[in-house]
Amino acid sequence: MAKKLTLIALLVGLVVVCIYASVTVRRGFSTRDSPSTVEAFVAQRTRDMAIPAKARRMNNPVSASPEVYADARAHFADHCAQCHANNGGGDTPIGRNLYPKPPDMRLAQTQNMSDGELYYTIQYGIRMSGMPAFGEPVDNDQDTWKLVTFIRHLPKLSEQEETEMQHLNPKTPDEIQEEKDEENFLKGDANSATPATTMHHH
Ligand code: HEC
Repeated sequence: MAKKLTLIALLVGLVVVCIYASVTVRRGFSTRDSPSTVEAFVAQRTRDMAIPAKARRMNNPVSASPEVYADARAHFADHCAQCHANNGGGDTPIGRNLYPKPPDMRLAQTQNMSDGELYYTIQYGIRMSGMPAFGEPVDNDQDTWKLVTFIRHLPKLSEQEETEMQHLNPKTPDEIQEEKDEENFLKGDANSATPATTMHHH
């Protein structure tokens, strides 16, 4: 009897996997797509299980202050914004094309995570996604805790803070050259100051 039940369970499981696989194959594997409900559900459950209960219950030892926010803004602009955007919305050229995509961290899905879950995610990354691990595997990385404090602040991020972060985002070689040209032009460097128009008098 028990053997029969196991066999039936296995068969049902096999059918489910086959249906899922055929749907996935038909949808294709582009990372531009968003995961299906089933895929998102399974991934979320797997991620939840991957965070040890003890880590989940950790409390953030860092409390919010202007200095903490300033440190975290600089860190986030430099290491996280290329995928997550300065405002945490995730709308960046890289973020849009990752699979799964970085979530809008200002919304409930992220804000409802415990401090420990956020810390653990930043520290250890998320497997099979674009989210890399940052930092050594320790429980008291102050920089990571500051990032957790900052993520809590994202829904209230001011325009001024966002502008400040834009100056701290990593620059591409093109942008660096552009800035140099601009600087030279403003200094009145004759070589780079090519007049765009020539006046004609008749
Ligand atoms: C290369 C791209 C990339 C970089 C850089 C990156 N992330 Fe992520 N991050 C992701 C992706 C993609 C996800 C979503 C993964 C998933 O849903 O399985 C994610 C998820 C997260 C989550 C979980 C949010 C949630 O609601 O599930 C947190 C928190 C997070 N990132 C914080 C950070 C911080 C802080 C940094 C910088 C120290 C950072 N990330 C850098 C791509 C990135």
